[in-house]
Amino acid sequence: MTPSTNQVCPVLWYQDHVRLIDQTRLPAEYTFVEIRRYEDMAHAIKTMIVRGAPAIGVAAAYGVYLGSQEIHIDDRDAFLERLEAVAQQLRETRPTAVNLFWAIERMLRVARQTVGPVSQIKAALLETAQQIHAEDLQTCQAIGDHGLSVLPSTPDKLRLLTHCNAGALATAGYGTALGVVRSAWREGRLERVYADETRPRLQGAKLTTWECVQEGIPVTLITDNMAAHCMKQGLIDVVVVGADRITANGDAANKIGTYSLALVAKAHNIPFFVAAPLSTVDFSLSDGSQIPIEERDPTEIAQVGETVICPAGVEFYNPAFDVTPASLITGIITEHGVVAPEKLVQLQAQQVV
Ligand code: MRU
Repeated sequence: MTPSTNQVCPVLWYQDHVRLIDQTRLPAEYTFVEIRRYEDMAHAIKTMIVRGAPAIGVAAAYGVYLGSQEIHIDDRDAFLERLEAVAQQLRETRPTAVNLFWAIERMLRVARQTVGPVSQIKAALLETAQQIHAEDLQTCQAIGDHGLSVLPSTPDKLRLLTHCNAGALATAGYGTALGVVRSAWREGRLERVYADETRPRLQGAKLTTWECVQEGIPVTLITDNMAAHCMKQGLIDVVVVGADRITANGDAANKIGTYSLALVAKAHNIPFFVAAPLSTVDFSLSDGSQIPIEERDPTEIAQVGETVICPAGVEFYNPAFDVTPASLITGIITEHGVVAPEKLVQLQAQQVV
C-alpha cells in the first residue's frame, strides 16, 4: 500500500491503539506496525521503526497513554508511581532527541495536575497525546512557511541540500527541513533536492528520496562524501537540515555528518539553516558539549545490508549524532520565525513554550 500525496503519517492513533509506519522497511515495503502496549512502543522507538525527533516525541506521548491503560489501580498516588516507571522505560530508548523527554514530561505533568479519579487522568493523557500530535503537524507547516522567507532570493529556483530525513516521516507529517522543501516546492522556488545518503542508517537514501518521489519533487541522491564536491561545482544554493536537540546558545545536534556538512557549507559561503520546533530546544543546556550523543550497534557500520565490509578484529565507533556549533548556523527556522542561533533565548521569552 502506497500513500497518496500529503498522507504520510508515521504515527497514527487508530481506534484504540497506535499504527506506526515501519520505517525500517522503507522504501521496499510500505507496512504498518500496530502498537497496543507501551513496551512495544519503547521497542519501536529503540529499533527505529519510528524515528526522527518530533515523531518519537509523539510516539512516546502515546506510549505513556498506552502504559496508563495497563495500570489497573484506583489509588491515585500508586497510579502515578507506576506511570513514572512507564515513563522511565520510554525515556531509556534513545538519549539525544530532546522531544522524547519533552513529550514524556508534558504527559506526566498533565497526569499530576489532573484532579479526579484515575479514569479521568487516563482520559486527559489521551487528549494530551493527541494534542501533541496535532500541534506538531501545525508547527511543521509554520516552519515550512517561515523557511520560505529566508531562502536565498537568487536563483529563482533553488538547489537545496539536506541530510538524513527531517521529513513527514520524522514528524507528525510535513516535516521540518522537508517542510521547508514542501513549502518551497509549492511556491515554485525549488529546482531540486540533493539528499545525502546518510551513512550508516541511510535515512537520506531510503526515506528522504522516498518522500520526494511520493510528491514528484525532483531529488538527486549523493553519498555523504560528495557534498563538498557538489558545492564546489556550484550545484548547491542552500543547506537545510533538522535537529534532535538545540542548546540555549544555538549549538545543534543532528544526524552524524551534519557538522562536516556545515563546515563545507561555510567554506563555500552557502547558507546553512537548521529547521526545528521550539520543543527541540533544550534551554536547560548552555551549549552542545552537554548533549548526550547516542552510540549505536557496531553492526550498523560493519555491514552494508547483510554484507560485512571489514575484517574481524576491527574496533568500531558509531556515534549517531554530532553537534554543529552555532557559529556555523546561518539561522534557526522555528514555528515562531527564523532567528540567529544566539537569539533563541529571546525568541523563547516572547513565546509561551
Ligand atoms: O536517528 P534518527 O533517524 O532518529 O535521526 C533523525 C535526525 O537526525 C533528524 O534530522 C532529526 O531528528 C530531525 S527530524 C525532523
